[in-house]
Amino acid sequence: MLTLVVLLVVLARGSLVRAHDLGDATGGLGRGQPTGYGRTRRPVTDRRFSPTDELQSSAVAESSPYLTATADAYDAVADLYADLARDSLDRLPLDRAMVAVFAELVRAAGPRPVVEAGCGPGYMTAHLRDLGLDAFGVDLSPALIDIARKDHPDLRFELGSMGAFDVADGELGGLVSWYSVIHIPPPELPPYFAEFRRVLAPGGYLLLGFFESEGGPVQQFDHKVTPAYRWPIDDLAALAREEEFVEVGRMLREPLEDERFRRGHLLMRRQAAAVS
Ligand SMILES: C[S@@+](CC[C@H](N)C(=O)[O-])C[C@H]1O[C@@H](n2cnc3c(N)ncnc32)[C@H](O)[C@@H]1O
Repeated sequence: MLTLVVLLVVLARGSLVRAHDLGDATGGLGRGQPTGYGRTRRPVTDRRFSPTDELQSSAVAESSPYLTATADAYDAVADLYADLARDSLDRLPLDRAMVAVFAELVRAAGPRPVVEAGCGPGYMTAHLRDLGLDAFGVDLSPALIDIARKDHPDLRFELGSMGAFDVADGELGGLVSWYSVIHIPPPELPPYFAEFRRVLAPGGYLLLGFFESEGGPVQQFDHKVTPAYRWPIDDLAALAREEEFVEVGRMLREPLEDERFRRGHLLMRRQAAAVS
């Protein structure tokens, strides 16, 4: 762990790393490891919190090692990650454009809250607020949630998992997962889409930002914080379709000079209730 932190500090000082994978420009991309991913259905897996934690959710079925490992890994680099991520949208006009479209569609659909699922230090949640949305954030990492609350004291941030939101069925108008589903082991991903569908109102919007696999299969890569996966955009869209989402639009953005991977942005909508 000490080695990892030292490496991250050295890289950050050289302005060589970017948020989201903390390793975009290191040139250390190995060949992606096929995951053997299969679309088996499993119950939502979730991290168990102590009684003093804020999350109380009945959707938690069992614990997955990825949840604790992810929370611990982001806790260990929270300050560094937040420093790298805070202003990351400033130089990403295409990413902002996709988020702006999402916000416009959510606003037009009516005044419902929006969650940023896996909000990290909360800059995207604040951006959603600036776009006129009633936004709040949820994340596994207590240290990142603390930073989000300090950076944006006017916004609500909750400790919890996007596999088990403390939110009623159909309560939300929108859900943004900005580089957070990247950490979910692929076989465990389908129940998360089921949870996204549960919390969204019929007609609600889902926006995913992720690393795209550029023609290859879903594959693990050497993310500098904790294991992460690059996805073919078609496969993610197909998984969402299995949970009654229909595609609204997509964007593939080529990597900037100091980034490693193509970025995928996928905008989906939960099907509106059928009129009988
Ligand atoms: C690459 S960071 C992205 C953070 C933020 N969205 C951003 O754009 O900077 C991934 C984040 O997802 C969170 N995360 C991963 N799995 C999660 C889960 N099941 N529930 C909630 N947060 C999760 C991590 O704790 C981490 O803060």
